[in-house]
Amino acid sequence: MRFTLKVLFFLLFVSYAVAYDPLDPNGNVTIKWDIMSWTPDGYVAMVTMNNFQMYRHIMSPGWTLGWTWAKKEVIWSMMGAQTTEQGDCSKFKGNIPHCCKKNPTVVDLLPGVPYNQQIQNCCKGGVVASWGQDPSASVSAFQVSVGLAGTSNKTVKLPKNFTLLGPGPGYTCGPAKIVPPTNFLTSDRRRKTQALMTWNVTCTYSQFLAQKHPSCCVSFSSFYNDTITTCPSCACGCENKKKCIKSDSKLLSVVGVNTPRKDNAPLLLCTHHMCPVRVHWHVKLNYKDYWRVKIAITNFNYRMNYTLWTLVAQHPNLNNVTEVFSFGYKPLVPYQAINDTGMFYGTKFYNDLLMEAGPFGNVQSEVLLQKDKNTFTFKQGWAFPRKVYFNGDECMLPPPDEYPFLPSSARRNPFGFSTILYSVLFFLIGFW
Ligand SMILES: *[C@@H]1O[C@H](CO)[C@@H](O)[C@H](O)[C@H]1NC(C)=O
Ligand SMILES: *[C@@H]1O[C@H](CO)[C@@H](O)[C@H](O)[C@H]1NC(C)=O
Ligand SMILES: *[C@@H]1O[C@H](CO)[C@@H](O)[C@H](O)[C@H]1NC(C)=O
Ligand SMILES: *[C@@H]1O[C@H](CO)[C@@H](O)[C@H](O)[C@H]1NC(C)=O
Ligand SMILES: *[C@@H]1O[C@H](CO)[C@@H](O)[C@H](O)[C@H]1NC(C)=O
Ligand SMILES: *[C@@H]1O[C@H](CO)[C@@H](O)[C@H](O)[C@H]1NC(C)=O
Ligand SMILES: *[C@@H]1O[C@H](CO)[C@@H](O)[C@H](O)[C@H]1NC(C)=O
Ligand SMILES: *[C@@H]1O[C@H](CO)[C@@H](O)[C@H](O)[C@H]1NC(C)=O
Repeated sequence: MRFTLKVLFFLLFVSYAVAYDPLDPNGNVTIKWDIMSWTPDGYVAMVTMNNFQMYRHIMSPGWTLGWTWAKKEVIWSMMGAQTTEQGDCSKFKGNIPHCCKKNPTVVDLLPGVPYNQQIQNCCKGGVVASWGQDPSASVSAFQVSVGLAGTSNKTVKLPKNFTLLGPGPGYTCGPAKIVPPTNFLTSDRRRKTQALMTWNVTCTYSQFLAQKHPSCCVSFSSFYNDTITTCPSCACGCENKKKCIKSDSKLLSVVGVNTPRKDNAPLLLCTHHMCPVRVHWHVKLNYKDYWRVKIAITNFNYRMNYTLWTLVAQHPNLNNVTEVFSFGYKPLVPYQAINDTGMFYGTKFYNDLLMEAGPFGNVQSEVLLQKDKNTFTFKQGWAFPRKVYFNGDECMLPPPDEYPFLPSSARRNPFGFSTILYSVLFFLIGFW
């Protein structure tokens, strides 16, 4: 029975992972090319990347954007970004292009480059906030001067085969499409100018493409049952079990293992779930009109400081969040009628950094929710979230048959006597 449930649960998880993101159905990253001027042999374009995803940001070491030129185009120069390789420019004499590759790979510049290499919204090391958390920081831009290209909107050929790493795999980009030219307002807002030509590329994320296993798991506990429902075993895959760190030893700082790596390869504390991140949901208190949940996020990765982290939860009572004590909170309403999903994030300079594994590698907050008397219950795991996402990736929940039960659970006493007793008891507690 339990096994079948687990298999079912696993299948459910996998099928969800392949689909688009049901909690952010309109989320995407849009890359817009605005041709600002024609040059004797090509054009100058502003390339703007907008992250329209509600809760999935692009974290350090940032985005990598690639494409394939349609003809023999070269990049004469760039502002606010650079290609990772110049390629073979041996055909050129005198003026040497910035990049001659057929399929250039572009990365953002780091903060603090000289002003004459910067443009607006550039130079953030490729870090782009999510739309839901900070719309003003959810954009990244650079300027590119293209040569050996078309010099009018009739002859220019759109680049093809766009690829986006953010920073890892998971994004799939569609073809570039010509769209109505962008309008720009001058800084005094009294004059409108317009791009000579504009095309858009839309990239969407799939967790299934990003990684084989989930990257976080969820555990539960409650005031009404001593059982702590731990994360499922090997929730995030146990292939790396040999490489994990046995205990939170002092050795770490001596060896200096907690230095980040370019590929973000994790170095985990050994746990039975082997997840870099665990979210714990504790049903803490029951008042007459309210109930209280404690949420704790723990980092088990010695090589990662999570900045700008986000936590998304789906629970029917999130339509009535009364107070969130130490996190920021924003309701997400993907389907206008249903208000059951919300996003938690850190408070600036207080807990917006989830530190690497160790004594400081956790953040927590309590949430006060107002009860709707018609739906509220502690029965059948109702008090636990339906879905949890950390940094935009769905976390593995424990199988439903392992949730902490109300001691009155009917399936444990067919006579139902104590069911009634406990119901009365909890009814009374509810009115305290
Ligand atoms: C991308 O996201 C924006 C904002 O949510 C939305 O308006 C647009 O329709 C989306 N584009 C695609 C192709 O889904
Ligand atoms: C093109 O992308 C921009 C954002 O970069 C967006 O505002 C605009 O609506 C997009 N246009 C179309 C037709 O999708
Ligand atoms: C190209 O530019 C001409 C005017 O120079 C304009 O009439 C035409 O609509 C433009 N075509 C496209 C695809 O932008
Ligand atoms: C598109 O780009 C990817 C990665 O850069 C490459 O593997 C693939 O062959 C390219 N496809 C085309 C049609 O150019
Ligand atoms: C995390 O941040 C702390 C404090 O800023 C720093 O000492 C540590 O090296 C960082 N660790 C990683 C893995 O970046
Ligand atoms: C959704 O619920 C929150 C409280 O959690 C409330 O502040 C917000 O107004 C609700 N939004 C809608 C559209 O009902
Ligand atoms: C919150 O709960 C109260 C009591 O059930 C209800 O009157 C109110 O409409 C709810 N608010 C929302 C946004 O659902
Ligand atoms: C607590 O919940 C577990 C299921 O997770 C259940 O097996 C146990 O019987 C419950 N404890 C009590 C006292 O009902």
